[in-house]
Amino acid sequence: MKKIIEVEHLRKVYGATVAVDDVSFEVVEGEIFGLLGPNGAGKTTTVECLQGLRRPDAGKLRVLGLDPQSDGRELRRRIGSQLQDSALPDRMRVWEALDLFSSFMPNSPDWRITMDQWGLTEKRRSSLSRLSGGQRQRLFVALALANNPKVIFLDEMTSGLDPAARHTAWDLIRAIRDRGTTVVMVTHFMDEAERLCDRLGIVDSGRLTALDTPQGLISTYAGQVRVVFSTEHADLSWLQGVPHVSRVNRHGPRVEVEGTGPVLARVAAALVERGVVPTDLRLEQPSLEDVFLSITGHTIQD
Ligand SMILES: Nc1ncnc2c1ncn2[C@@H]1O[C@H](COP(=O)(O)OP(=O)(O)OP(=O)(O)O)[C@@H](O)[C@H]1O
Ligand SMILES: [Mg+2]
Repeated sequence: MKKIIEVEHLRKVYGATVAVDDVSFEVVEGEIFGLLGPNGAGKTTTVECLQGLRRPDAGKLRVLGLDPQSDGRELRRRIGSQLQDSALPDRMRVWEALDLFSSFMPNSPDWRITMDQWGLTEKRRSSLSRLSGGQRQRLFVALALANNPKVIFLDEMTSGLDPAARHTAWDLIRAIRDRGTTVVMVTHFMDEAERLCDRLGIVDSGRLTALDTPQGLISTYAGQVRVVFSTEHADLSWLQGVPHVSRVNRHGPRVEVEGTGPVLARVAAALVERGVVPTDLRLEQPSLEDVFLSITGHTIQD
């Protein structure tokens, strides 16, 4: 598989803050690659170094075979970059922004087609200030695609969107990838990372602490499943001795049993055998949330 991005031992320091600390990874053609981490983890710094927008203190970077520092101008012609909100005048109209951006780019697709693909035709005469959050995001992605990029960088693309708009944005990101553009995205949303990314790097305090597919991360770092049920039954100490059970937590009527493999069947059978009828019973698969906690020792909001 063709490597689109190569990062070796990237380091970036701001005064006493080590923003990015010895980070290495590769992104291959056609994937949605994500960096997931809490505020201040170094995600934006990393992707800005990749776009030649910040100068690394150490490390070797290659994007589309180019060095973002020495070939920055050439690189930025070939990559797509999601704009921040403030970058365009509020009074500019949707069609004007699309027209302007495609006029810079020699190999730009017809902006009217892009406008249509991203569902903006109806809003073409609206000024940017009058777009909803979701429409604005779609416009910024459409603008980032104006140069027909091989790779696009999206930094917190779905922040501030409502749930419906976030789902739409995910579909749009998949659509970009399906058209052959590699996607590098930054997020602090677990569900987004888990559902969208083919591979995912977990970043914490400047370090890349794990890198794999979401499912790979879950099976490596959060092996335990949880059987959850409710009961008023007083004594459940015997649950600890059921095969495949590793831990039992109880909060009032709510019981959580952690375990591995066929723990659900074992717990259900043991409950039946003792005549305990739980009011509900379900299996919770571990999530990226559990992975994050197990790797970093804290939740992403801490
Ligand atoms: N221009 C700057 N000058 C000084 N410190 C900076 C600068 N930019 C970032 N930092 C610091 O570097 C660290 C990493 O910041 P960065 O913006 O890369 O994090 P992030 O993972 O993108 O966070 P967020 O989720 O909040 O966007 C933080 O401690 C931040 O305060
Ligand atoms: Mg950031």
